[in-house]
Amino acid sequence: MSRIAGLLIGPVLAAFVALGGAQPAAAAEGGQREPHAPSEGWSFDGFFGHFDRAELQRGFQIYKEVCSSCHAMKFVAIRTLSQPGGPGFSEPAVKSVASEFKVPAGPDEKDGSLVDDVGLLRQRPAVPSDHFVGPYANEYAARAANGGALPPDLSVIVKARHDGASYVYSLLQCYEEPPPEVQLQPGMHYNPCMAGGQIAMPAPLVADRVTYDDGTAATVEQMSKDVAAFLAWAAEPELEGRRKLGFMVLFYLGVLAILSYLAYRRVWRDTGH
Ligand code: HEC
Repeated sequence: MSRIAGLLIGPVLAAFVALGGAQPAAAAEGGQREPHAPSEGWSFDGFFGHFDRAELQRGFQIYKEVCSSCHAMKFVAIRTLSQPGGPGFSEPAVKSVASEFKVPAGPDEKDGSLVDDVGLLRQRPAVPSDHFVGPYANEYAARAANGGALPPDLSVIVKARHDGASYVYSLLQCYEEPPPEVQLQPGMHYNPCMAGGQIAMPAPLVADRVTYDDGTAATVEQMSKDVAAFLAWAAEPELEGRRKLGFMVLFYLGVLAILSYLAYRRVWRDTGH
């Protein structure tokens, strides 16, 4: 028995040590800084984790007022802002939010033209069933406006980066003056949380960049946390529902186990074994 346990535990321990051992090496590389979570942790971590509505609403405000001027979230429909498990905006509020975004209008009904009087792509105010689009007509326009760099779509950025929410939270606060030995590429900004230490995105947040409706002080730390939580929700809007289902399944299995045990006791009641 103990040999079997040893056989099973051995590889697991080895994998654990290997994973743990890889991290300090990465941290030591070129002053690179590892992402960290806020000191109070994330409300959505752990088995009973859930999104904090007020935090998601503030995070959305940051996305709308700051990030959406460069980044799209084309996999997220605006209507999801009122769905259960999300920021919980009312439907009229979502309608009015939608109307503040502009989306491509498609060809004109009369003459089939794709552009307006001044030659720009025709646009119309968004409706809740539209997705969050970025401000650029295409990748070329986006790169041209950002010194050749492409602002990535933020729909699933939290899933696309290791330690997603903590990464976004840290990245937004990581900007600082470059040390003398660092030679910045043209148009780049020093950010030791970014791989390579340089990023084409200028620091998007400064204190009081927005005025929060709920009176929360808009420090850079607070705004970074709120928008990171919002992006975590955007990447996994069904998280709360999935956790609830998982809990129900475990509860059901637990009750089933107890009943099976009682049935077993009853069936074998009169048999010596
Ligand atoms: C002025 C335009 C602009 C604004 C505003 C802006 N970004 Fe960016 N962002 C960029 C560009 C350009 C890149 C690509 C950087 C690169 O590849 O060096 C980028 C990259 C990123 C990345 C990916 C970094 C990586 O690991 O590759 C994240 C995450 C990000 N932005 C989040 C945000 C958030 C959150 C906001 C709002 C608080 C925001 N950005 C506002 C232009 C912008």
